[in-house]
Amino acid sequence: MTQRLKDKVAIVTGAAAAERDGLKGIGGAAAWLFAKEGAKIVIADINAEQGQRTTAQIQETYGDALFVRLDVSSEDEWKQAVQTTVDRFGRLDVLVNSAGLTGGGSDVETTSLEHWNRMMDVHVKGTFLGTKYAIAEMRKVAGGSIVNVSSMHGIVGIKYGAATAYQAAKGAIRIFTKAAAIQYAKENIRVNSIHPGNTNTPMAVPYMTDKDWTKLWIDETPLGRFAHSDEIAYPILYLASDESSYVTGAELVVDGGINAV
Ligand SMILES: NC(=O)c1ccc[n+]([C@@H]2O[C@H](COP(=O)([O-])OP(=O)(O)OC[C@H]3O[C@@H](n4cnc5c(N)ncnc54)[C@H](O)[C@@H]3O)[C@@H](O)[C@H]2O)c1
Repeated sequence: MTQRLKDKVAIVTGAAAAERDGLKGIGGAAAWLFAKEGAKIVIADINAEQGQRTTAQIQETYGDALFVRLDVSSEDEWKQAVQTTVDRFGRLDVLVNSAGLTGGGSDVETTSLEHWNRMMDVHVKGTFLGTKYAIAEMRKVAGGSIVNVSSMHGIVGIKYGAATAYQAAKGAIRIFTKAAAIQYAKENIRVNSIHPGNTNTPMAVPYMTDKDWTKLWIDETPLGRFAHSDEIAYPILYLASDESSYVTGAELVVDGGINAV
């Protein structure tokens, strides 16, 4: 084993969907990879049943792992999740903000205020609160790495279909990341965003079973296929580990080449 995260403690949000033999989400794939690379993992998700199953399997395979039930849009629950992590593992080195909701397909006029607020709550407020409460603990250990999962759609518009609130939320994560990166760079707390393209995860199943949608997007993707969740988890691992020690405020696009066209 290479142990790229040896002795690190990491919280990964939205990592419940990652049972051993099932389709894994991006956060879930990152949690497995982090554990394999020597990290102590805290899976934080609103889905307690699946989160506990995934955590138990990671624990059986690699050792220390903990599940905390967290709604990322709740400030009280974030405080509790960070405290529980530190009580159990003594420190916090890495935070991956990956919890998310499916985009929905609405243009500006058909986007309800309720949908808009939900997208902002989970993606933007969730990323802000996680970053806010992780920083105090990272300061105690003289540094840390925060990886915020945005999207290719946080950088450019969507050619096929519309996801107004989702895009606005993912764009906000991109620039929030840069603001936080600059504010905490002197304390060696690095903050970066990752921008996946279409990735085969539980959340994406409703799109990826639509043959017309799938054909449009595969034709649009220079690499000619969708990503496996591990192909996003490895770049997240790089940003989380000390290998990226001089990288902060960056946006790592992992989209099969779509944004390069
Ligand atoms: N799958 C893609 O094609 C794709 C592309 C670009 C970006 N992303 C982003 O990557 C991230 C992970 O997506 P995924 O497709 O791997 O999802 P996934 O299949 O892992 O599902 C998302 C997870 O987030 C959890 N979650 C939802 N709301 C929550 C809340 N309020 N608090 C805590 N947990 C909550 C769910 O329970 C679930 O476990 C998301 O932010 C998503 O927007 C996904």
